Amino acid sequence: MTELRFPQDTFTRKGITAHTKDGDRKVTYRAYEHIPYVTNPVDVEYQSLDVWVPETVDGVEVDAQNAPILFVIGVGGYMSCNNYHKDMMPGMPGPEGPGGMPPMGGPGGEGPAMLPGLGGAEGPGENKALAMAYGFVIVAPGCRGRDCQATDGTYFGKAPAALVDLKAAVRYLREMGDAIPGNKDRILSTGGSAGGALSCLLGASGNSPLYDEYLRAIGAANQRDDIFASCSFSPIIDLEHADGGYEWQYGNVPCSGTATGPVKIVPGLVDQTLSAELRNSYIGYVNELALTGKDGFGPITGDNLSDYLMEAYLLPEASRYIAALSKAERADYLAKTPYITFSDGRAAFTWEAFVEAEGRMKGLPAFDDFGKEMAEPDLFGTETVKTRHFTSFSKAHDPSETDDVIGDELAHIINLMNPYYFAKNNNPGCAPHWWMRYGALDRDTSIPVFTGLATILENKGKHVNARLVWEGGHCADDDPDGVMIWMKELSK
Ligand code: DHB
Repeated sequence: MTELRFPQDTFTRKGITAHTKDGDRKVTYRAYEHIPYVTNPVDVEYQSLDVWVPETVDGVEVDAQNAPILFVIGVGGYMSCNNYHKDMMPGMPGPEGPGGMPPMGGPGGEGPAMLPGLGGAEGPGENKALAMAYGFVIVAPGCRGRDCQATDGTYFGKAPAALVDLKAAVRYLREMGDAIPGNKDRILSTGGSAGGALSCLLGASGNSPLYDEYLRAIGAANQRDDIFASCSFSPIIDLEHADGGYEWQYGNVPCSGTATGPVKIVPGLVDQTLSAELRNSYIGYVNELALTGKDGFGPITGDNLSDYLMEAYLLPEASRYIAALSKAERADYLAKTPYITFSDGRAAFTWEAFVEAEGRMKGLPAFDDFGKEMAEPDLFGTETVKTRHFTSFSKAHDPSETDDVIGDELAHIINLMNPYYFAKNNNPGCAPHWWMRYGALDRDTSIPVFTGLATILENKGKHVNARLVWEGGHCADDDPDGVMIWMKELSK
């Protein structure tokens, strides 16, 4: 039994430079490290957290006792996040991809980790530094992940372990009360990609009793685990429908470019019959969701989904981006982006031309691949089974499977890993505030999978700030200060 405590007098005093939009700030802070957050850890290296408390910014004292808390989810690729050996995340490929974006962590990747944290910034320390310059307390928990394997070969971090750990960390903060500086009712979680998905889940599933047995097993504090706001960059969500979303967007464009992580590029078109099947199932799903588009768009259907994405997301974002360019930059941009025309402050192009210019990255199916080599089948494994299909479509098409049945036990875990599930079902502990970003050129999932969650939340009356980052890739962030300012304003 590990006792839950916070070692108030055991810290290291450190300094860091934050690059804010208004210039560099020197931050000094107290770093408390490797603090176990559950009483019955499976592995304390993962189930521990760091707390950084800013003391001064440019020499001016900061009172962080009631400051908002930035809860940094350092997960990539649904892999574990080790709180002790942060530079040794197993299986994570090294930094690559557009603009220093986090790579995908897939099976078999190797090399040093680069934590996604806040997408698009220069590194996790940078994001933490930025948040401290805005006065936030930083909490950075480790958590289990799909790669965790005990010496006897059993897996101990398959779904929903990562989320259970993050919830336990939130509960721990409340259990410690005032001993840990920061306002426990003003927690903002953040993460990119799989970490973004976990940030959405933490936001949507607050206080859900469905995780109770898991939380009890690890000795989580008996406290609330809802959060005030969820921030995500390129969240990889709605996994059981993401294959359909991918075919809906990319079904008839060939694979192109280079892949991030272990995704194999198979040049040319994917199987058009299978693609059409997945695409059609997604259209049915969109109709079933029965969502209403913002700004008076009205009902979103499978037939008008691309119109909605164009009107609400792509055209305004492209227009804004191009309008902000200088005359010379604009001429240059339009010359190398011939599918866009621009006049009177407005960009014009078609959805089809946009997707064709973007090109496809992943194979078919994009997530629950028939050979179970992608991150997601590995996420849904069990203690003794490394990978499992999580859609009956892929189970039916995998020749090594004997049926297409997704049993009740797995169906339940799939729900526990989908923020859509909690948002749709009016979970009372769902966070009221949401900041969501997705690179317009990100091909790790599809745009409607991202906007779908934003729309559900909007339809449920949540406060949502969701945008595409024009010309942005995986986990792109064109305004790192923006979310800090937004959260500070909301926290007042
Ligand atoms: C990540 C990227 C993916 O393409 C995916 O399917 C899962 C996770 C990531 O970068 O975390």
